[in-house]
Parts: sequence; structure tokens; C-alpha cells
Amino acid sequence: MKRRLTIAIPGGERSKAYPIELLRRAGLTIPDLSGSRSLKHDLEQVTLLEVKDADVPVYVDIGVADCGIVGKDWIMESGRDVYEPLDLGGPAYRLSLIRLRGATGRIERVASKYARIARGVIQSKGMAADVLPLNGKLELAVTVGLVDAILDVVQTGRTLEDNGLEETEVLHKLSMRLIVNRAALKLKVPTIRELIHRLEP
Ligand code: PRP
Repeated sequence: MKRRLTIAIPGGERSKAYPIELLRRAGLTIPDLSGSRSLKHDLEQVTLLEVKDADVPVYVDIGVADCGIVGKDWIMESGRDVYEPLDLGGPAYRLSLIRLRGATGRIERVASKYARIARGVIQSKGMAADVLPLNGKLELAVTVGLVDAILDVVQTGRTLEDNGLEETEVLHKLSMRLIVNRAALKLKVPTIRELIHRLEP
């Protein structure tokens, strides 16, 4: 590749595995990073930054990273104006409204890791529910009656099953995406085009 790119990916053993696999398939040489706690990797062809999923769009929009690989859920939640040229596939998952199995009463409070998306959904449905931002393990919030519903991602459905919950509505189908900083797109056209081409499923 002609110009060196900085790419932000979700950090942590589990999260970084798929982005790294994609980049390797695209022909980049990436050594085994599994034992490393370093968050910045200056590699042969690219620099990799390991950040929290939610922060990948921030690094890319501000331009510290030229590109990022992250789930569509976090791109939507960030509200950042990044170019999103490629659906990278990967494990299919979805963003759903979830309740106790069989629940029918009014929804007055919804918990989510995706407060911004949740507020948008509630507004578009004309519901009068409050959004309670939580950081994870949302299923418990419904089970113990903290909220009447959650807005969360579902992959296999096992977490719902094991906690007596069900999806009442699938709101978005999600997957991993490539995002690109808009200025980098102009300044590094050939390099970014080449990366997009190599990453194409
Ligand atoms: C996510 C999500 C669900 C679970 C869904 O949680 O929030 O809890 O995965 O996966 P499943 O349908 O395959 O069971 P994550 O593991 O990211 O942890 P968190 O709840 O702490 O955010």
C-alpha cells in the first residue's frame, strides 16, 4: 500500500479477533497480538489502534485513525459523520426491543447501552418511555424489574433464553463495517481504495 494507514479496531482478546482476521485476509501482515497488552501496534504496513468499540467512530471522525472496523450498532450510536463504504459481514447480529417472555403492559422505562439509538426509537414510535443508560448485562435489568424493556443486541439468542426474555421487535440487522475518515478519504485516495478493494467480501 502506498501511504501508511492507521486503523482503529475494537480492543480486547475477543473483540479484536475478527477485525484482525479480516485484515490478514486482506493481505496485511499482522503478527500474533494475543499476548500483548500494548494498545498501539506499529506494524509493517499499517498502525493498529486498539480502542473500545464505542470509541472507534470517534478516533476515525476526529482523524487520529484513517479507518476503523466496528459494528454498525456503535456507528449508529456515535452519531459521527464517517464514511461507511463496506459491509464486512461477520457474525450476524441484530438490535432488538426485548421484554420478559409474555409481557404486555405499558413500557415506561427502557435500559440500553445504546441510549442515543434508544431515544430515537422511542421518539419515532411516539412512546413516552424514559431511557435508562446502563453499561451491560442489560438482561438482568428486566429480570429484576428495574425496567420494562431493554434495547440490546442479540446474536445467538442464548442470553435471552437463559433469562426468560423474548424479542418483541427486531429494529436493525447489524454487522461489522469499515469506516473511513472523510479527509483521509481525499488525501489518501489510492491507499484507501486499495484497502476497500482488498477487504471486499
Ligand atoms: C451482548 C449482548 C447480550 C449478548 C447477546 O453482551 O448485550 O447480552 O451479547 O448474545 P447472545 O444472543 O449470543 O446470547 P456482551 O457479551 O457484549 O456483554 P455485556 O452484556 O456486558 O455488554
